[in-house]
Amino acid sequence: MTDMTQNIVKLKDELTGMVTASNDLPSLEQARITALGKKGRITDLMKTLGGMTPEERKTTGAALNELKNEIADLIKKQELALKKQVMDEKLATETIDVTLPVRPEAKGSIHPISQTIEELITIFAAMDFTVAEGPDIEDDWHNFTALNFPPGHPAREMQDTFFLPDNPNETGEKAKKVLRTHTSSTQIRYMTEHKPPIRTIMMGRVYRSDHDMTHTPMFHQMEALVIDKETHMGHLKGCLMDFVRAYFEIDDLPVRFRPSFFPFTEPSAEIDIGCTRKDGGLKIGAGDDWLEIGGSGMVHPNVLKNCGIDPDEYQGFAFGMGIDRIAMLKYGIPDLRTFFESDTRWLNHYRFDPLNRPNRATNS
Ligand code: PHE
Repeated sequence: MTDMTQNIVKLKDELTGMVTASNDLPSLEQARITALGKKGRITDLMKTLGGMTPEERKTTGAALNELKNEIADLIKKQELALKKQVMDEKLATETIDVTLPVRPEAKGSIHPISQTIEELITIFAAMDFTVAEGPDIEDDWHNFTALNFPPGHPAREMQDTFFLPDNPNETGEKAKKVLRTHTSSTQIRYMTEHKPPIRTIMMGRVYRSDHDMTHTPMFHQMEALVIDKETHMGHLKGCLMDFVRAYFEIDDLPVRFRPSFFPFTEPSAEIDIGCTRKDGGLKIGAGDDWLEIGGSGMVHPNVLKNCGIDPDEYQGFAFGMGIDRIAMLKYGIPDLRTFFESDTRWLNHYRFDPLNRPNRATNS
């Protein structure tokens, strides 16, 4: 055996010992650097190849390469063994008690709008209504024309509409884009896509250019639509009264219908609920005063026709109201603007529990 061969055998023993003795990942990394690093032991020997005869270089080079591969394999194996050991230790010592209660400080709270929306869905689901949604960016057809607003009619301006710039690819009155001023536009979408009988509620954001304590440029509306054979105003009144009494949780809440006008309903009525106003305060329930909460009426035959429904066969009713408004009334929130300020102190004040949501099982 040449000196060199002896050196290689010795080095192999030494490095093998060092790798197998590494009992954690940092010391194994140290062993790797010592053996295979740029200034490592094997690399050092490689550097001596240059001064050898071609014969020597051939055998020594091959032996060193073999050593290098063996040590690299050994390091890989040791690494896997150490990683498995770390994992085994973790599995043996770390346990998760899935029965522990949630930490109270980590619990957020539900925004009053979301709370109210879920209450509405719960009440209407119990009356067999489905829930539908429509786009916030509407076109003139769905927001106005199909709802029987005559072209150029001042009612289009009555709603303080935000008109969007014209799209050169889509021209004409019908395609004109607006931020929807009411959820009634979803009535058109729903009736165009579904055949009666229809029983659905529609909810979402609506937009009007208005801003004060009780108006924000964006707010939320809820709308109910029922289309069937022989649906009449009695159904509208019954449905609305059941709904407002369930929502405000007042069984004998007085409800009054006041004649009104909407282009898309005929006859139309404003909905008032009973209340008492005293010393600047407002209390919902039997009292000597009335508070308007929304609009309603029998769906206009022209609207049915615009959606491909035969008004001689089907009739129906619709009503709509501001979600923010009925949330303010139920939960005593005085300023609408606070809904949209994202102040967590305000949210915490109302504290609607995210783990106890209204649903058909709890019915609350
Ligand atoms: N869309 C009407 C509004 O925003 C409300 C309404 C809905 C009236 C449905 C009648 C029927 O004022």
